[in-house]
Amino acid sequence: MISIFTNTLDNEEINAIKEVLESRWIGFGPKTKEFENKFAEKINAEYCLMVNSASAATYLVLKTLGIGKEDEVIIPTINFIACPNSVIELGGKPVFADVDLNTFNLLPQEIERLRTDKTKAIILLHYGGHPIDYDSIKEVSKDILIIEDSANSILSKYKGKSCGTLGDAGFFSFDAMKTLSTGDGGAIVIKNEFYYEKLQSLRFLGLSTKKTSGFDSFKEKNNQWWEIELDNISNRFLMNDINAAIGIEQLKKIDYFIEKRKSIWNIYQNELKEVEQIQLPPEPLADTQSSYYLYWIKVKNNLRDKLAKYLVENGIYVTFRYYPLHLIKIYNYKERLPNSESILDEALNIPLHQNLSESDIDKIITTIKKFFKQI
Ligand SMILES: Cc1ncc(COP(=O)(O)O)c(C=O)c1O
Repeated sequence: MISIFTNTLDNEEINAIKEVLESRWIGFGPKTKEFENKFAEKINAEYCLMVNSASAATYLVLKTLGIGKEDEVIIPTINFIACPNSVIELGGKPVFADVDLNTFNLLPQEIERLRTDKTKAIILLHYGGHPIDYDSIKEVSKDILIIEDSANSILSKYKGKSCGTLGDAGFFSFDAMKTLSTGDGGAIVIKNEFYYEKLQSLRFLGLSTKKTSGFDSFKEKNNQWWEIELDNISNRFLMNDINAAIGIEQLKKIDYFIEKRKSIWNIYQNELKEVEQIQLPPEPLADTQSSYYLYWIKVKNNLRDKLAKYLVENGIYVTFRYYPLHLIKIYNYKERLPNSESILDEALNIPLHQNLSESDIDKIITTIKKFFKQI
């Protein structure tokens, strides 16, 4: 079966893990700090904090920005469940918004329709790595905080700036299915020093960042170096040096991974345009760059499910990201969001990643063409 999401880990990552294991410092430490600095440099972010997942990052960012009881957060309905879950866990209310029929990105006019006095934040997604038209979003958002879910958009760029660094805060995922993978992991980027310090405390149980502890405290001649001081009440969301060591190696390869993805995207765009029954994804907007995380097609004439089944039966795994949040029962959302529901009926993600061989790509294209010839 040709996989739809995968990672590329090799001897460099194995050696980096070995080095960390041999050092015996396997928790949060120098490698994590090195990864933070290198990642921040790569995307030109002011402050960066590594955490154990992007889901944890979502929760931490919302908590740090003060999202709490009865606050409303606008979320494009085509996005990941960690977004509404985090809002609800903090006592707030997710408000689901409709998306553009072609890019699957949040529509600016939805912000105008849905904003109330209680709207505190928006969580954006750059769907599939395709940068949203950020200026249009910013224009209608006014004083509402903008948080970028950049899980799809590592190294995507909007007018020369990295996605994830455009808004008030952003976060990235390094889980097993992402272009840069550390097994599990995530990064938070933020501009404001006050929030950076608060995040440092919140990601590690609320421990004070101002007071040294343990052996560092002993070295400062404190007689009771086991004393603890908390600035906040929180849980534990740290990255460790094993994951970070993998991340440092992956960072050296990420440009190549994205180049490879781009070349496959271009092959699909050229080869599939002759298939009348499918609609191809739009190219990135002018002055933007995509990370090419997902490739998506829309299938006409109610043929999407049949095509999906045919591809899987022929050894090509396909799926759709992301099942619209407003349709998930537990959120108990009453409103219909027509664009997203039509996307749910027609859209399909086909494999797009750096491990696809020429024969895999050929097989994917010929199998899609064959399906439409025989129906
Ligand atoms: C858009 C989006 N946001 C957030 C996440 C959460 O990432 P993680 O698996 O690192 O918690 C994912 C994971 O699939 C995602 O796709």
